[in-house]
Amino acid sequence: MEPATGRQKENQSIIREFLFLGFQGNQDVQISLCVVFTITYILTVAGNAAIIGVVGTHSHLQTPMYFFLSNLSFLEIWYTTAYIPKAIAIFLGKSRNIPFSSCILQAYFGFSLGCTEFFLLTVMAYDRYLAICYPLHYSTFMNNMRSAQLALVCWVSGFLVITVPASILVRLSFCNSYAINHFYCGADSLILLSCSDTSVYQWVTFIMATIVIVGTFLITLVSYICIISTLVKIPSTQGQQKAFSTCSAHLTVVVMWYGSTIFLYVRYSKANALEINKIVNTLNIIITPLLNPFIYTLRNKEVKEALWKVFRRTGSCLSMVLDLLGLKSSRVRIHERLPKCHGG
Ligand SMILES: *[C@@H]1O[C@H](CO)[C@@H](O)[C@H](O)[C@H]1NC(C)=O
Repeated sequence: MEPATGRQKENQSIIREFLFLGFQGNQDVQISLCVVFTITYILTVAGNAAIIGVVGTHSHLQTPMYFFLSNLSFLEIWYTTAYIPKAIAIFLGKSRNIPFSSCILQAYFGFSLGCTEFFLLTVMAYDRYLAICYPLHYSTFMNNMRSAQLALVCWVSGFLVITVPASILVRLSFCNSYAINHFYCGADSLILLSCSDTSVYQWVTFIMATIVIVGTFLITLVSYICIISTLVKIPSTQGQQKAFSTCSAHLTVVVMWYGSTIFLYVRYSKANALEINKIVNTLNIIITPLLNPFIYTLRNKEVKEALWKVFRRTGSCLSMVLDLLGLKSSRVRIHERLPKCHGG
């Protein structure tokens, strides 16, 4: 008996690292996951960076709505970066373990960015509410300065909200098991592993999550009720469609984001749903940030046109480079393309 207790005590101080189990499956499964995650990651970063670039360089897109959109894209880049590169390394079998401190840091950033996303989506709904329900007073309530302040508030509060549960989380001790049945460090997987009493932590996170999720959801809901009741009063269907087109993309993202969150939140109480949780989590982490730029560009004429212009210009620059490399013919064509490539 004695050696066993001795060993356990030793173990308590030994666990400085966690091991990710990732997804079950043979090498082929791991490689497919790796390919899918890599492609998704590249597309997500490229798509969101394109939105930031387009909004930043087109003066007619310098409005609060597009500022919030590019800020959301900025957030999505960080959000996926917090999870995906590490996940890819895990699928490759390169580094299945993670030091305790990095694990806490990942849980902290993932949660903070998630909270910021809730706040930003809410502020975007509020912006549409002002634009559609109070079009005459819109510019007094919302301007570029106001939108920058609101975005800053979203980021700061997203990171502050989570400090309370995070400060409890770092005090938990981990002794017997150190295998995380996931591909990232999330608070809920850490709770399952901890050998301390986690009831305080669970209450605190439950209350905070409820405030953040229900609070932002209610504000968004009320905004959309006002938006829709205003739209219904517009006499022409064309006018209705035009006004609604500015918020349909936002509404799609909101539905996806809250849909997956509420699903996870409800499932969380059911212990044996871990595998399903893992899949919904994955969708939440990799699909939402990926779809974001596509939803906005497909539904928004202004962004779509600006993006196409950029693509066409990149295309003509590319063929110019090919010309220079001698892969294409005459020199005359290079001179033809040069001004297009430099000028707006
Ligand atoms: C988003 O907002 C934050 C806080 O105001 C700011 O620091 C960041 O640069 C913004 N990013 C973009 C791309 O607008």
